[in-house]
Amino acid sequence: MFGGFYDGKVAAITGHTGFKGSWLAFWLAELGARVHGYSLPPPTDPNLHQILGPGRITRQSIADIRDLPGMTRWLDETQPDIVFHLAAQPLVRLSYQDPLDTLTSCVLGTAHVLEAVRTLGLNTRVVIVTTDKVYENHSWPYGYRENDALGGHDPYSASKAAAEIVTHAWRRSFFPVGRVATVRAGNVIGGGDYAVDRIVPDAVRSRLEGRPLQLRHPHATRPWQHVLDCLSGYLEVGARLDGSPLPEAFNFGPGPDGNRSVAELIDAFSQHWPGSWEQVGREAHLVEANLLNLAIDRACTHLGWHPAWPFARAVQETADWYATRHLTDGADLVEYSRTQLERYVADARRQGIRWATRTP
Ligand SMILES: NC(=O)c1ccc[n+]([C@@H]2O[C@H](COP(=O)([O-])OP(=O)(O)OC[C@H]3O[C@@H](n4cnc5c(N)ncnc54)[C@H](O)[C@@H]3O)[C@@H](O)[C@H]2O)c1
Repeated sequence: MFGGFYDGKVAAITGHTGFKGSWLAFWLAELGARVHGYSLPPPTDPNLHQILGPGRITRQSIADIRDLPGMTRWLDETQPDIVFHLAAQPLVRLSYQDPLDTLTSCVLGTAHVLEAVRTLGLNTRVVIVTTDKVYENHSWPYGYRENDALGGHDPYSASKAAAEIVTHAWRRSFFPVGRVATVRAGNVIGGGDYAVDRIVPDAVRSRLEGRPLQLRHPHATRPWQHVLDCLSGYLEVGARLDGSPLPEAFNFGPGPDGNRSVAELIDAFSQHWPGSWEQVGREAHLVEANLLNLAIDRACTHLGWHPAWPFARAVQETADWYATRHLTDGADLVEYSRTQLERYVADARRQGIRWATRTP
């Protein structure tokens, strides 16, 4: 996988205690990498970091990315072959409650990672994780492309768009070609997310509490994709940052069948774990665009990447993970997560997706 790049490498992850970071650390350890993490404590209880067992992390620093000396010290001690920068306040709704915390964690956090790599003179690859929400949203029915204008109507989206601009400036000013890239993913679903105010975790909580799920915007359309599809893209970009020319940014989203409304997502989830939903009042001040699709042609063309799990399968694997954890006595979630990852890799191989079959 990934041309064998990760075996024996040192991978540094910021945000390793979060949902995506925990899956990424898990996969990197399975690939033979030594994983170092820098992050605040897990943002939720329960959390995937604990469920998968922090033991697979070689060394972790529980600290804030806004602490530049701390971040620099950590990278100096780690001497990574690759940095995946995921740490940020990632929730749109929370960004309205505390816009400056969101802005500083997204923008200063990104600048600190890049600045620490620069001042230490590290010869490392850097993958900066932003979001599909970095684009100036016109509610177009077609997908946003990597060279569309950046924008952001809410504090989270604007902060992530600003992180893109900061990365662009540092890359152009200080780094060699083909070493730093940004990755923009759509709305990710998958087992182990317990964030407040995200659809699938809300659905799980409502089922466990035996009440209808409350949806504010059931007809809003989003590009839903499984977390492993998103991470295979991040990992392939990292493996390809070998100093050869590579585009500076990549979208990773689902195929067209993943562009679904919130209600469709929940109806599909209910086929595996039944439950009801009800619409509650919109919050007019929370401006989240109704329509947001991502064009993934660049990742398909340059990386030979495409999603391995279509919408129905992504939802089924997600629901199965939660059902295994919450409805099965004595389930071993580490083993279950490993077999889920194996199923995913096997499906990618069967489809001939390049990262899954590429040799050095
Ligand atoms: N989950 C999604 O659907 C989605 C979609 C697009 C982009 N993203 C991006 O992916 C990344 C990871 O998201 P996630 O879903 O895993 O979120 P998460 O909330 O589960 O994890 C966020 C991580 O960042 C850490 N963190 C937050 N602020 C920090 C700070 N100031 N200093 C150090 N660590 C800090 C948290 O402790 C946690 O480890 C984020 O950058 C997010 O914006 C997520």
